[in-house]
Amino acid sequence: MQSLTLLGIESSCDDTAAAVVRQHGDAAPEILSSVVEGQTALHAAFGGVVPEIAARAHAERVDLCVEAALELAGLRLADLDGIAVTAGPGLIGGVLAGVMCAKGLAVATGLPLIGVNHLAGHALTPRLTDGIAYPFVMLLVSGGHCQFLRVDGPEDFTRLGGSIDDAPGEAFDKVAKVLGLPQPGGPAVQAEAALGDPKRIALPRPLLDRPGYDLSFSGLKTAVLRARDGLMAGLGGLRQQDRADLCAAFQRSVADVLAEKSRRVLRDHPVQVLAVAGGVAANTEIRARLEAVCAEMGVRFLAPPLRLCTDNAAMIAWAGIEQFRLRGADDLTLSARPRWPLDQRSPALLGSGKKGAKA
Ligand code: KG4
Ligand code: ZN
Repeated sequence: MQSLTLLGIESSCDDTAAAVVRQHGDAAPEILSSVVEGQTALHAAFGGVVPEIAARAHAERVDLCVEAALELAGLRLADLDGIAVTAGPGLIGGVLAGVMCAKGLAVATGLPLIGVNHLAGHALTPRLTDGIAYPFVMLLVSGGHCQFLRVDGPEDFTRLGGSIDDAPGEAFDKVAKVLGLPQPGGPAVQAEAALGDPKRIALPRPLLDRPGYDLSFSGLKTAVLRARDGLMAGLGGLRQQDRADLCAAFQRSVADVLAEKSRRVLRDHPVQVLAVAGGVAANTEIRARLEAVCAEMGVRFLAPPLRLCTDNAAMIAWAGIEQFRLRGADDLTLSARPRWPLDQRSPALLGSGKKGAKA
């Protein structure tokens, strides 16, 4: 098999990223560099990602990230075999900035151009980090995504289920907001939860009473808000212990539904590996519960390092390598797509996350 060195470019949300990944034949791939420029500070004052600000920041930084990634890898453009770029789904201004940069480089160098689905990047990451074989199940849980995918090949994905409204990270962020905790909410809620009693305040377990693998987090977030208001009305304010108990109850509910839905997926889909990706996979309670479910079902649990679980361009370069080997390159008609379901056979997800349209 041909040795391939690809540049990856990612700009679909609020991280501008570039990376170089190389695979000699069918040997284990190497990440030669991975640069991620976050935009948290630019959006902090607005309580969410502002698409226009994101697009402008991507346009200003994407070429600098590419330069940095090449320099860190010790390579020049002429040393590459192709350019992979996130072509969707995501905030269209950002995706366009990346696609335009990649096209410019492809035209200037004559290198093949490969348009990659951002979700395919996440879904193929366990093959980059651990070389696992197909098929496997991926649970994608972040601020913008929430879905179970069965992965059978570089372009063969089946969406088994997902959130019908908010992504779990979004719910963590909103719960933090209503409880006066800092953003991003996940780590703050987790720290509070460690001090709380998960059983004192009863919260719902959305969609657990229904068959299937779909999830819902919007009602849970509203239930936390109501419980907060109830406590405040009774006590005239929220005590520290109340806040900790609310966080613990919320986190337990999210962990319960993710664990039960994962159990159902693994029961119905005999695979050897359940892999997770996304910022929420950093949550220790959720991770421990998923590990326990995998142990119970005799399945390997795989959580790639967090820097490769969250948005990055190494996953795009890697997906580019796998997809280029399978189907060759795209041409210059490659377009940026705000919506791009990985699985064309399953019905589209409802709802739209704080970070833009979901697949
Ligand atoms: O994957 P990610 O970095 O970005 C995208 O959403 O694409 O995920 C960020 C999300 C945020 O909503 C953040 O609150 C959540 O992941 N998060 C966590 C934890 N760490 C980050 N949620 C729960 N527990 C955590 N420890
Ligand atoms: Zn992502």
